[in-house]
Formats: sequence, C-alpha cells, structure tokens
Amino acid sequence: MIKRTEIGSILKGQVALDTPVTVMGWVRSFRNTQFVALNDGSSLGTLQVVVNPETTDAETLKRITVGASVCFEGQLVASQGKGQTVEVIANKVEIFGDCDPSVYPLQPKKHSLEFLREIAHLRPRTNTFGAVLRLRHNIAFAIHKFFNDKGFFYMHSPIITASDAEGAGEMFRVTTLDPKNPPLTEGGEVDFSKDFFGRAANLTVSGQLEGELAALALSKIYTFGPTFRAENSNTSRHLAEFWMIEPEVAFADLEDNMNLAEAMLKFCIQYCLDNCREDLDFLATRLVDEEKSKPQAERSEMGLIEKLEFVLAHPFERLNYTEAVDILVNSNHNKKGKFKFPIEWGTDLQSEHERYLVEKHFKKPVILINYPKHIKAFYMRQNDDGKTVAAMDILFPGIGEIVGGSQREERLDKLTERMAEMHIPQDEMYWFLDTRRFGSCPHAGYGLGFERLVQFISGMGNIRDVIPFPRYPGSAEF
Ligand code: 4AD
Ligand code: MG
Repeated sequence: MIKRTEIGSILKGQVALDTPVTVMGWVRSFRNTQFVALNDGSSLGTLQVVVNPETTDAETLKRITVGASVCFEGQLVASQGKGQTVEVIANKVEIFGDCDPSVYPLQPKKHSLEFLREIAHLRPRTNTFGAVLRLRHNIAFAIHKFFNDKGFFYMHSPIITASDAEGAGEMFRVTTLDPKNPPLTEGGEVDFSKDFFGRAANLTVSGQLEGELAALALSKIYTFGPTFRAENSNTSRHLAEFWMIEPEVAFADLEDNMNLAEAMLKFCIQYCLDNCREDLDFLATRLVDEEKSKPQAERSEMGLIEKLEFVLAHPFERLNYTEAVDILVNSNHNKKGKFKFPIEWGTDLQSEHERYLVEKHFKKPVILINYPKHIKAFYMRQNDDGKTVAAMDILFPGIGEIVGGSQREERLDKLTERMAEMHIPQDEMYWFLDTRRFGSCPHAGYGLGFERLVQFISGMGNIRDVIPFPRYPGSAEF
C-alpha cells in the first residue's frame, strides 16, 4: 500500500504542523537546487518542498526536473519564506519518473491555449486545465446533487440508437459492415438489415425520446450522457461529442420547465462559488489577462466572479420569440445594418441575435419561449395560435443557447399530424407514440449542453478547452 498525504489537504490546513508527511506529485519548478514547487492535482496550489543539497546525493538532485514525478518524505513546518505558509523539509527523496526537460513539451512558462490543444494528453498538468477539470467534476456533481435532492431518477439513455430525435440528420453511423464490400439490396443500396443490429444504427444526438418513456413511468427523470452530432461546425461552441443533461418531467408545463432550468443553472453556479473558489479565482485572473489582449470594445464589463454573482442575483428575463424579434427588428443595431443575418418573424435566431438580446439589450440571461413551429422539432407542444410551439431556449452571455427544451405534444392526433407534415416515419416510432396511446399526460423537459455550462462558469472562450479530449472536425487524436 502506498501512503501519502494529499497536497490539497496540507494547503487547506488539514494537516497538523511539525508532523512527518509523505507527499507525491509532479515538479512544477525547482529553484536554487533547493526549493521544489510540487503539485499533485488535488488542488490548484503547489506545495513548497525544501531539499537539502548537502545531504541529498547529487545524482538524485539532478533528476528533480520540471515534470518529474517525485516522492518526498519529511516534516511539515511553518514556512520562513514569503509566498507560502507551510512547507515540507525533505529528508528523503525518491524519483518515481524522470522527465527530460530538453524534450518535455510543457515548460514553466505561459503556453497558448492553441498550443496546449495540440498536446491535450499533457495539458491536464497545467494550472488552467487542472482548474477546468476540477471545476468540470464539481459541476457534474452539482447536477446530480440538484436532481437527486429534488427526487429525480438518473436514467441511462442508450448511446446507440436507430432514431433521430432532433430530425437534424447529422449522425454518426455505427456499423460492423465491411466498408469495402457491404451487402447490397436489390436496388443497389447498402443493406443494413444485414448489419449488427439488423437495421441502420447511429450514435445518439439526444437521450430525450427514451427519457420521455421513463418520465411517463417514474414522473421525474434526468439523463446525463454523451451525445454526438456530425455537423461540420468549427465554432467555439460546438463539439462533435458533448455531454447533455436532459431532465424530463411528467405533469409539468412550460412554466415548470423554465423554473426547473433556471433553478438548476443557479444551483450549479452557487455550488461552484461555494466549493471551487480557488480554481474560480485563478480562472478569473486568467480571464483578465486574456481580455487585455482584446480591443477595448470586446472586453467584458464584468470579471468572472462578478458575472457569476450577477446571474445568481437576477431572475432570468422571460419573453416570447415574437417579442424578441420585435426588439431585434427595431434595434438601432439592425437599423444600422449591423446584423450579418437578416431578422424577421419566422427566421431562426442566429447567435449574433441571441447575443444582442442577452449582452446588449437585457444584459442578463434570457429565456425565449413560443417559437414558430417550423423551426423546431416535431415533439414540441403546439400552441393554440396554430403557428407556434411551447419551446424554450435559454440564452447566456458569451455563450448564446445553453439550454433547449419544450413542453411536449402529449396529444396523439396532434403529434401524428405534425409528424406527417414533417415526413417523420411513424411506424418506426411506434414505441414513442405508444406513450401517447397509453396513459399520455402533459410533460416537459429540456437539454443542457454540459460543456457550454462549464464554459460559462470557467470563463473559457473555446468549448474545446473545457472537455478533456475534444472531438471536432478533423480531430480525434487523443
Ligand atoms: O437544443 P438541442 O439540440 O436540444 C435537444 O437535443 C433536445 N432533445 C433537448 C431536450 O429537450 N431534451 O440541444 C440541447 C443543448 C443546446 O442548448 C446546447 O447547449 C447543447 O445541447 N448543444 C451542443 N453543445 C456542444 N456542441 C454541440 N454541437 C451542441 N449541440 C447542442
Ligand atoms: Mg436547440
């Protein structure tokens, strides 16, 4: 058994002074052949370890290099020097793993995020990615806590599916057929009935449809799993593989849905402020530095912590799609021709429109509801006006859409009518329609893009920097 004291617990003051400790970690720096900054990832901070160059053999001293994994046994004492309150006076040094500084890609200096993406296998060892990964864990934990405390059940939706929930048609195929020699139908098409599942199968774009099946039995469920979209979007907010949280609630309407989503987002933010302060403060400082390189007009008015506290302090603005379009059409921004994409009732909002509403007009998160039906998915509940559906999108500053959801169409006749209009095959979806045939009820749900929430809370500008190993067009290296 390996016994060690975690650096995080030492730095938090949980270990008594003048006691022997064994610490293990990776060297961040080594000054004057004497002072080691050691980090083991349990917290952002590094522990100062003082080695005695007189009593440590020269060979071992040489092997204490940046990136090396080292074990120190020694005494935890109050530090005499500046910059730390405690330090370990080492009396035994054991090198676990050498690290040749002449070829180690991570040097003790500032690296660009773009460069770190190219060495994603090593970037968890940096302060920034350590902070992001700890934060990511805490946000995931907060989500489970939020739903569990409210009596929701975590439902594991399948990752391989034969349906396309969003009707987006941008899915990754899952097949074991030989690409060089696939079985063909008489018509010359690939015969997926001979494939592994006896049908064409894909990686899921959403767990919602299966979530609905469970909600119409357990009342309150949520899914939390990976989802996949083969859209060729190279933006700072899209990934080909991302994680989605999809609660689904029976006996709930659009207003319940909005209330749940707003409470969940605020709970997660508060949880991080309460439990991840050190990492958040570090990320806030990082953001200030990053903003300095931007032109004044693009810099945000608030710091990271301020922004999080601001979101907590104000109710989200709730308004109809139609009202939002009016605001956009009548805005000076539009009159001066500053939007790239035209805006009129019936068009889907582009991210520039969403950001105008959130960042310029309301200056806080916005929930837009009741969108035109032709720009939304088939399962959304049709409103009495015949034109709109009970959809909701939550828009966040700097992010745009963070949540998308709706009240669901629970009326069988309305649902099948809409599916026919949208050319969605009903026979393959019999299992979904069965919920409406047998004991249907009003219900609602939404999907939260997990990485977009991590982006918002961490202040990281690019979604590729908030997931350990991002998947996007042209990239699946690590
Ligand atoms: O709005 P979307 O497409 O909604 C659904 O999939 C519904 N089935 C959800 C539901 O009602 N249960 O996706 C939901 C959220 C978006 O608001 C966005 O935050 C995120 O998922 N998202 C992405 N995040 C990263 N990369 C992508 N390519 C994303 N596409 C959507
Ligand atoms: Mg959406």
